[in-house]
Amino acid sequence: MKSFRVLPVFIIVLLAVIIARYYVPVHVPGPMGHPWKYKIVSGTFALILDLSRFLESIIGIPHYTILNTIIDSLDPFKIRPFDHGEVLYHDQYIENVLVRMYTPKNVSHIPLSPVIIFFHGGGFYFGSIYSHDTMNYHLSMYTGAKVIAVNYRLTPSVHYPTPIEEGVKVAKYVIDNYQEFAIDPANVFLCGDSAGGNMAVVVERHLRREQKPVIRGVLLLYPLLQLVHYRLSSYLTYLPYRLLSLLHEDLLVQVANFYINTSFTGDELFTNQHLSLNDYKNFYSKLNLQISDSDNDDISKYHSSSSSKSSHPDTWKLFNENISPLLADDDILRNSPSTFIVACTYDILLSDAQLYFRRLQQLNVKNVIYREYRIFHGVMTFVDFPVAFNEAFDIINDSAQFVVNRTALVE
Ligand SMILES: *[C@@H]1O[C@H](CO)[C@@H](O)[C@H](O)[C@H]1NC(C)=O
Ligand SMILES: *[C@@H]1O[C@H](CO)[C@@H](O)[C@H](O)[C@H]1NC(C)=O
Ligand SMILES: *[C@@H]1O[C@H](CO)[C@@H](O)[C@H](O)[C@H]1NC(C)=O
Ligand SMILES: *[C@@H]1O[C@H](CO)[C@@H](O)[C@H](O)[C@H]1NC(C)=O
Repeated sequence: MKSFRVLPVFIIVLLAVIIARYYVPVHVPGPMGHPWKYKIVSGTFALILDLSRFLESIIGIPHYTILNTIIDSLDPFKIRPFDHGEVLYHDQYIENVLVRMYTPKNVSHIPLSPVIIFFHGGGFYFGSIYSHDTMNYHLSMYTGAKVIAVNYRLTPSVHYPTPIEEGVKVAKYVIDNYQEFAIDPANVFLCGDSAGGNMAVVVERHLRREQKPVIRGVLLLYPLLQLVHYRLSSYLTYLPYRLLSLLHEDLLVQVANFYINTSFTGDELFTNQHLSLNDYKNFYSKLNLQISDSDNDDISKYHSSSSSKSSHPDTWKLFNENISPLLADDDILRNSPSTFIVACTYDILLSDAQLYFRRLQQLNVKNVIYREYRIFHGVMTFVDFPVAFNEAFDIINDSAQFVVNRTALVE
């Protein structure tokens, strides 16, 4: 009899501990549509991360591999309440890269439809075509364009430039064989969120260098555009919130280390100790800006003892324009295609989006649109019940409108 009473008590205590440990401490970064949903999502991530790290300590498989495997293996069982057959989709390989291809039904009468090649976010080491499936379904539905989502291989199994190379391979094959896919090679768009936004910019520049038909437009959703400077104002404002329980130093330092195969420490990067005074100058001269006051404070704080402090031996790699595309030369940026920049207010990468927009504007690039949404980084993965955010659908709709606006143009 006793054990019957112990079990419910145990469960209640466990739940109370979990709520107190994971959900109560979540700090909502500012006014937003559904703060409670944000708390639930963020607390759940913290819980899942701890569980997967615990598993890692037992079975020895890295926690990100465990998480990716679980999310991907759920795909066949996914309930798709939004799927009323408006968009057909299937998986296939293009040049040995897995892609998920979405074809909207109500445009099948158009002989050659526009296409959006999509690169998912997740810091190059999380995420897949499955984690961004719902968003791509809707993107295809709202635009009437085909969407080809690229399942590039993740770090740390591969490093830069492998994800970029895979993106370029897919884009080139699709453009060269446009009839096979019934897509219009004059209406090719590249889109990506977060690290995928970085890939979209870099892949577009590769294609431009190779004289491939010009990309019609690039859609950058809260993109990661530089890996050099970790004390830009949006980092200073939002790092303390540990957005989604994911955007904090421990996980972020791995984005750079896994992608570039370096061994920076979090302490180094998030105090900018990997930067010399020359590195600061170099960074700001690329942006055509003065060193900011807060940077001057940092410099006197961390560099006063040795004004000639040298860089970390790997810092130069971060300046590579194919890794930090924000820092490319004017000539490269000046010839950028139409660009739709989506920034999230609650995002350590807000400064990336603002600085990129500012540069494109200064160089008079045509058809550059910047919109900021009062929501958090990564929102495009929260489009499913019960944690769907309206802002994610606003972003999909506006992105779709950008694509429709650009394709309707006869230039
Ligand atoms: C296709 O149909 C969907 C749902 O009926 C609609 O939302 C979308 O705007 C349509 N797209 C086009 C290009 O007509
Ligand atoms: C990554 O870096 C390590 C240590 O510096 C090196 O041994 C390894 O060969 C590198 N891997 C690749 C793929 O470059
Ligand atoms: C987005 O656009 C589609 C098609 O125009 C419309 O049906 C849908 O209601 C819009 N959704 C939102 C969230 O505005
Ligand atoms: C699309 O074009 C319409 C009409 O010109 C404009 O109002 C809207 O802001 C444009 N949207 C985007 C995202 O380009």
